[in-house]
Amino acid sequence: MWHAGKGLVCDIFFGLRHFPGHHGEGLVLHIHLGGTKVIGWLKKYTTQGLRDAIKNVMLEARFCRLHLDGVRNARRYQGQKQLKLHLGAGPNIKQGFINIDLSNKADLTLNLYEPLPFESGCCAMVYSEHFLEHVEYPDTTRSFLGECFRVLDAGGVISVGVPDSEWPVRAYAGDAEYAEWFQKVREYGYPAWCKTRMECVNYSFRQGREHRFAYDFETLKGALESVGFADVKRRAFNPALDSKLREYSTLYVEAVKP
Ligand SMILES: C[S@@+](CC[C@H](N)C(=O)[O-])C[C@H]1O[C@@H](n2cnc3c(N)ncnc32)[C@H](O)[C@@H]1O
Repeated sequence: MWHAGKGLVCDIFFGLRHFPGHHGEGLVLHIHLGGTKVIGWLKKYTTQGLRDAIKNVMLEARFCRLHLDGVRNARRYQGQKQLKLHLGAGPNIKQGFINIDLSNKADLTLNLYEPLPFESGCCAMVYSEHFLEHVEYPDTTRSFLGECFRVLDAGGVISVGVPDSEWPVRAYAGDAEYAEWFQKVREYGYPAWCKTRMECVNYSFRQGREHRFAYDFETLKGALESVGFADVKRRAFNPALDSKLREYSTLYVEAVKP
């Protein structure tokens, strides 16, 4: 049962008939989202999988609240044209853009898996850097890119940067031009357990469970074209637009709404 509003409460009912001490009556757990009233026996009588699922529900409830705040706050842009959106901005706040993320540093907190709360054709540019690989592929990616297409005006530009997964693949296959990739990513901050080359490749593709897809140019071009974008081109790193930290092995691609 869900109660909307301040201090969302999720009441989760477990039928714990077979657990000692509960006499077949089951048990209602009150889990206060945002706070942590965790009932002591939870660990004893639940599996890690169930606890992970509960954590996910709590996280999604928080994202839901942030998203609804963002949708409400997006009303201030109603009627405006030539907007520039920075999607999945994280801490990189860009002047002249509406910086959007689930992080509360953003101008708008939105869950980008949901439709964008902007009018069709109101944007001149949509930018994202190291965000698209966090989106489930192909269905959610298609709906996300479809939303980018919808909010752009004719002639508007989408500019996307993702980790270039051709690099680890080529490096692993022994292409001398990419050989330094393993060393570079360890320096960049890959976890200490990434010792073998295959561990590095896996980390690059998955980053725990953060990354949902690994792109090369052909695949990103196809995804953009599938929702209507044209003139899809690889572009060079642009220091005026992109983050210095992302320069190494990022695939930057630009496309236009015809
Ligand atoms: C790897 S960070 C990139 C941040 C920044 N663009 C950069 O290059 O440093 C990915 C960002 O995507 C955001 N993100 C992931 N899933 C999201 C979602 N469903 N809706 C909104 N933001 C999301 C995260 O909060 C995070 O800030």
